[in-house]
Amino acid sequence: MTDLHAVATDLLANGRGILAIDETPGTIGGRFEKLGIESTPENRSAYRELLITTPDLGSWIGGAILQDETFSQKTTSGTTFPEELAKRNIAAGIKVDTGAKPLAGHPNEKVTEGLDGLRDRLAAYKEKGAVFAKWRAVYTIDDEVAPTPGASQANAHALARYAALCQEAGIVPIVEPEVMLEGAHSIERCAEVTANTLRGVFNELAAQRVDLRGIVLKPSMVVSGKAGEAKAGPDEVADTTLRVFAEVVPAAVPSIAFLSGGQTPVQATEHLQAMNSRGQQPWQVGFSYGRALQDDPLSIWKGDSANTEKAQEALAVRAKANAAASKGEYDASYEPAS
Ligand code: 13P
Repeated sequence: MTDLHAVATDLLANGRGILAIDETPGTIGGRFEKLGIESTPENRSAYRELLITTPDLGSWIGGAILQDETFSQKTTSGTTFPEELAKRNIAAGIKVDTGAKPLAGHPNEKVTEGLDGLRDRLAAYKEKGAVFAKWRAVYTIDDEVAPTPGASQANAHALARYAALCQEAGIVPIVEPEVMLEGAHSIERCAEVTANTLRGVFNELAAQRVDLRGIVLKPSMVVSGKAGEAKAGPDEVADTTLRVFAEVVPAAVPSIAFLSGGQTPVQATEHLQAMNSRGQQPWQVGFSYGRALQDDPLSIWKGDSANTEKAQEALAVRAKANAAASKGEYDASYEPAS
C-alpha cells in the first residue's frame, strides 16, 4: 500500500518544490499566442519536454503536475512524461479536475467540476505512473459579498470528495483552494477570506474522513489585491500568511506548497523566503508554482528550439532560487546580473 504520508512529505523535502505544468491546451494556448507560438499538440509537448529535461532539475523539484494530454504524450526519447520524470527522481502528478465553471445562482463565482467518473480516472492514471493529483478550486474575492457561503461550501465539498477518492486510490491529493489575486481588496480582507476558506475546506475534509497526514495543501498566499492602491511588502505578506495558517491549518498536514497566482517570479520567491526566514513551522512551507517558474523560460523559448538551452537555464535559475527560499537561504545573489 502506498504510504501517503511519506509521499506528501517527500514532495517538499530538502527544499524541493513542485513544478506546475498542467495548464489545459486552452490556457497554455493563450500564453503561447501572446508570444506568437502556435499551439499544437507537438509544440505543447516540445515545451513541456524542454522544461522537465532541464539539467539538474531534480535537485530543486520533487514533483511535476501534468495535464491529461501531456500524460500520454511521448518525449523525443520515446518515453512517457511520467517515465522521464521518474528518471530524474521527480514524482509525476496529474490535474484531475475538469475546470472551474460558473456556479448557478452565484454571479461571478465558480465551482470546480470533475467528480463524475473520477474513481476510474484515478485508477487509470495510477496505472500510468501518477503518484499525486491536483484539484483547483477558485474563490472570487471582493470587499462585500464574495466568496458567498454557497460558493465556498460547494468548492470545499468538491475538494474533499476528490481528496477522499485520491486517498482511496493510493494517490496523494493536492488540495488547492485559490483565493484570487484579482480585486482591489486589502491584505486584511484577504486574510479574513483565506481563514474562512481554509476553515470550510478543513471542515469538509474531516466530514469526508480524509487523512490530513496524506495531503499537500496548495493555497494562495495572503496578499493585497492586484488592483488595490496599497500593496503589502514581503514581511507583511509573510507574517500575515503565517498567522492565518497557524490559526486554521492543522499541524497534521505535512506540506504546504504555495501557488504563485499571478505574482511576479521574483515576488513569489521573496514571499517564500520571508516565510521561511521566520524559522520552523508546523508544516513544510514550499512552492508549487506555475507562472512564477515558467514565465521566464517560456518567453525565452518562443517556440524556437535554438533557444532551448537558454530557456532551461532560466528555469534552473528560478527553481534553484525557490528551493533556496524554501530553506530560508535565498538572497539577491540567486538572481542573474541584468
Ligand atoms: P500559478 O503558480 O501560476 O498560480 O499556477 C499554479 C497552479 O497550478 C494553478 O492551478
